[in-house]
Amino acid sequence: MLLKVVCPGSFDPITNGHLDIIERAAQLFPGVVVGVLENPSKKPLFSLQERVELIQNAVRHLNNVEVECFSGLLIDFARRVGSNLIVKGLRAISDFEIEFQMALNNKRMAPEIETIFMMTKNEYSFLSSSMVKEIVHFGGDVRGLVPEGVETALRKKYGLSAGE
Ligand code: PNS
Repeated sequence: MLLKVVCPGSFDPITNGHLDIIERAAQLFPGVVVGVLENPSKKPLFSLQERVELIQNAVRHLNNVEVECFSGLLIDFARRVGSNLIVKGLRAISDFEIEFQMALNNKRMAPEIETIFMMTKNEYSFLSSSMVKEIVHFGGDVRGLVPEGVETALRKKYGLSAGE
């Protein structure tokens, strides 16, 4: 069974690093479900609805990608959408430890579900949603690092005008 794969994350907000992984997964597999974690304890900058809309906007050129929210365990979400493969991006060695832990715990709970990793493109290996938020918050430029619409949405959140 391999109908679709799950690309999970908090996406607060989506970056070009996330988008690169989603696009490559969409080329490799019949379908991709982007799973947006509702995690109130992380106090996201963007609401769940806003994060979903920013992703939907960024993936509208990909006709085999859908966006769904989830709470609770990732493996339960994967089972619910009928997927047995989780696809994640790996930026640097620093990502490895936590990703390894999550993959092994997920494997213990759901042996039928595999996790695979794709190396992030070199130009996005330093990129994270937190960095992007911080840069915009303090007036920096994130052009080329986030999909269209995300920088504007960030500026709005921080009360900055479009060109500030
Ligand atoms: O973008 P993020 O915040 O790095 O994504 C992390 C995410 C959403 C993939 C991870 O936190 C997750 O899978 N959360 C769901 C809860 C879960 O399944 N936990 C058990 C894994 S050991």
